[in-house]
Amino acid sequence: MRMKSVLWGWVLALLWVSAAQAEVLVQPDFDAKKFSGLWYVVSMVSDCKVFLGKKDHLLMSTSTVKAVAEGNLSVHMEFPRADGCNQVDAEYLKVGSEGHFRVPALGYLDVRIVDTDYSSFAVVYIYKELEGALSTMVQLYSRTQEASPQAVKAFRDFYPTVGLPDDMMVMLPESDVCSSGGKEAP
Ligand SMILES: *[C@@H]1O[C@H](CO)[C@@H](O)[C@H](O)[C@H]1NC(C)=O
Repeated sequence: MRMKSVLWGWVLALLWVSAAQAEVLVQPDFDAKKFSGLWYVVSMVSDCKVFLGKKDHLLMSTSTVKAVAEGNLSVHMEFPRADGCNQVDAEYLKVGSEGHFRVPALGYLDVRIVDTDYSSFAVVYIYKELEGALSTMVQLYSRTQEASPQAVKAFRDFYPTVGLPDDMMVMLPESDVCSSGGKEAP
């Protein structure tokens, strides 16, 4: 009985997600191969309580993206922490169109590559579930540790459209804790 209502709750949550997120667009003609390679996560904004509690201590992380079969991505992430480099691997599973994913391993219900020029920046929208709480996050990816003014502008123009205010945003400081910087051989 209890199990049933938990499952039903999930069905309702997913229906609500698809209705609420429908208006967030994806980069037209998204090309997973061109999106592959090393990205620095230089800035984040989120209404997640866990994120807001620690955002002033977060450091710049990296995501190394590899296009795999069926429009999915295989992503290797490195997060510098006070106690060392935390490495995470996750599969981004394509849902519907190219550039639209879900990542069950990370609790990401809906991920969209909103805007990218492939060579310098990407704006990534994430709708996620953590410890039962739903939240919206937007990340700015950059090919270099310093994002270009155009990249920062694309990011800052986008996140208010999904209801996120400036005071939930953080520019992440560089760190050399993960010294490989995701640059290991492919
Ligand atoms: C890609 O993702 C889909 C789910 O969206 C999954 O069914 C499929 O097995 C995945 N393919 C690969 C090669 O991982």
